[in-house]
Amino acid sequence: MEEKKRRIVVTSALPYANGDIHIGHLVEYIQTDFWVRFQKMRGNECVYVCADDTHGTPIMIRARKEGITPEELIARSHAEHLKDFTDFQINFDNYYTTNSPENKALSEQIYKAAESKGYITRKTTPQLYCEKCQMFLPDRFVKGVCPKCGAEGQYGDSCDKCGSTYAAEELGNPKCTTCGSSPVVKDSEHLYYELEPQHEYLENWIPSHTTSDVSNKLLEWFKEPLRGWCISRDAPYFGFEIPGFKDKFFYVWVDAPVGYIASLKNAGKFDMWNDPEVELYHFIGKDIIRFHCLFWPGMLNAAGFKGPTKVFVHGFLTVNGEKMSKSKGTFVSARTYLENLPAEALRYYYAAKLGGTTDDMDLNLSDFVQRVNSDLVGKITNIASRGGQMLQKKLGGMLGSMDEEGRALVQKCIDAGELIAKHYEERKFNQVVVEICRLADAANEYFDKCQPWKSIKTDEEATRTQLTAALNAFRIIAIYLKPILPEYAKKAMKLFGESEWAWSSVKETKENCALGEYEYLANRIDIKQVEAMVEAAKVKPGESGEVSHESRASKNKKEEVSQKNEVEPLKSEIAFSDFEKLDLRIGVIESCEIVPKSSKLLKFVLDAGSLGKRTIFSGIRQAYPEPEKLVGKEVVFVANLAPRKMSVGVSEGMILFAGVPGENGGILSPSSAAFGGTSVT
Ligand code: 2FM
Ligand code: ZN
Repeated sequence: MEEKKRRIVVTSALPYANGDIHIGHLVEYIQTDFWVRFQKMRGNECVYVCADDTHGTPIMIRARKEGITPEELIARSHAEHLKDFTDFQINFDNYYTTNSPENKALSEQIYKAAESKGYITRKTTPQLYCEKCQMFLPDRFVKGVCPKCGAEGQYGDSCDKCGSTYAAEELGNPKCTTCGSSPVVKDSEHLYYELEPQHEYLENWIPSHTTSDVSNKLLEWFKEPLRGWCISRDAPYFGFEIPGFKDKFFYVWVDAPVGYIASLKNAGKFDMWNDPEVELYHFIGKDIIRFHCLFWPGMLNAAGFKGPTKVFVHGFLTVNGEKMSKSKGTFVSARTYLENLPAEALRYYYAAKLGGTTDDMDLNLSDFVQRVNSDLVGKITNIASRGGQMLQKKLGGMLGSMDEEGRALVQKCIDAGELIAKHYEERKFNQVVVEICRLADAANEYFDKCQPWKSIKTDEEATRTQLTAALNAFRIIAIYLKPILPEYAKKAMKLFGESEWAWSSVKETKENCALGEYEYLANRIDIKQVEAMVEAAKVKPGESGEVSHESRASKNKKEEVSQKNEVEPLKSEIAFSDFEKLDLRIGVIESCEIVPKSSKLLKFVLDAGSLGKRTIFSGIRQAYPEPEKLVGKEVVFVANLAPRKMSVGVSEGMILFAGVPGENGGILSPSSAAFGGTSVT
């Protein structure tokens, strides 16, 4: 019985129009593209829509700085983004813009529906206003002195030094980050989208539309009434004016997700959104969970629109185990990557690492080179290049029939299809790659066992039989790889004289027919290419970091106005092997003193037995107003932490401390841990 064709709409988050696409963004677009291509190969109708996210203060300011209009800026970005995506083989069915008539009309419709239900309220709040720039300042457009710890140069929402959050008006000596002048406090009326009327609806909706780690975090807020969400921004603002108001605009996060529907509408597929038969999936990063799993389903529900079937959340990208860094050259734009390396190498590596969870994913640059060369080129492509070239050169390019052993190999490859499909469906692309590599290993073993390079000298037909099996195995592997490596698959298709592959194409075999010309499918990459890319991506000291190289999470923060209902970012799990790396030792506190001019630091000298003496700086002063009393106590410390140069000296380890300094926290004491509990000194 033929399976029913599914109908699916898929989205990736809309990238902001004021920055380049970078390798961090690509984690999302590439994996969405894998999934969409897989669905299409399975014969499902799958429509992948996206758009540029074009509104908001940063875009307006950037255009001003460049001396162009926001419309000019977003037109340029649209072209650049689309080119980057296309060159990475990301195949949208429509790539639109949020600054469109469809989006304006739909945003108004969704807003008016909420208004008519009484969900929109008004509140007057004091806000910093820059008279020179003539605008209210979003939290990230103002810097000043932290009201809690006195640190200078802190943004209007939270302090990087002490971690406290506050309202921008509480900052000492605030300055507008655009023009440097001192803002004044001014009242402004804002519109709030009240979520409490949908408390019960959302509480039920969330667990069945997200994974449990995501929903557990979100549901913590449901213990109390849900707070309203500020959805207005004052002029000047690049966005849609709110119906019935002058000089008040929808906050960018109102019309951004509506942009998904608008892009679908622009593709002529609007009916799919509310069709109960159609499945709807959003791929997003974990920094924007709140918008997609709380506000968005609320907005849709209130307006009588269907919500997503599932929201698929992925983690952030790290490079060589660290946050992407401009100075280290690991904050790489899509273009810089492409100028140095092939797109499919990154697609392959991301597939090998993505497991469909919210864990962060590491791009380890030497592992990247190694995996591409040894697995994609050395293992997988090798079957085609050895087999294809020999068949062409020595056997007139004609495939023969397979013998029993060859058929068994090919059957093994066919049989793996449903498991691989299951992994694709569940977005466990790393498992897809594992299975594919297993099949490639089997094909290589077969090849090496047959030794066609020897048999060709004595028995051409036996060799043809063997090569036919190896090449058929390769063909099936290439079919399975097609969602990950579409261009590679296209070249492989040509080799077999075919013009398209569906998932079911694995069931055919290619026997007694001519093989097309062998064309290089994938080349080895060199660490030198990676080094050149890193060099090109480096922002040298003194050069500006450029807004375009800003992380997405920080851009989202820039847009926030005192919305403190934040989801704590999900911490990724560490492997047991990471934990094992810690060398935990016991030391006795020989001295402990306050560090002058620091409100947080204590300087410890530990007697660490055979390790000698260790100096450790620790930011736990609030927990110990009389630090000298700690002398003589035993502590547990991490002995193999790389020494860290601080302004007050070098810290040679880390003392274990649990909880919050000054509240419930304390140093972990090994003496009482031995009796079954961690006690606080
Ligand atoms: O975080 C971001 O980059 C946003 N521009 C994503 C918007 S996704 C959607 F809701 F439009
Ligand atoms: Zn200003």
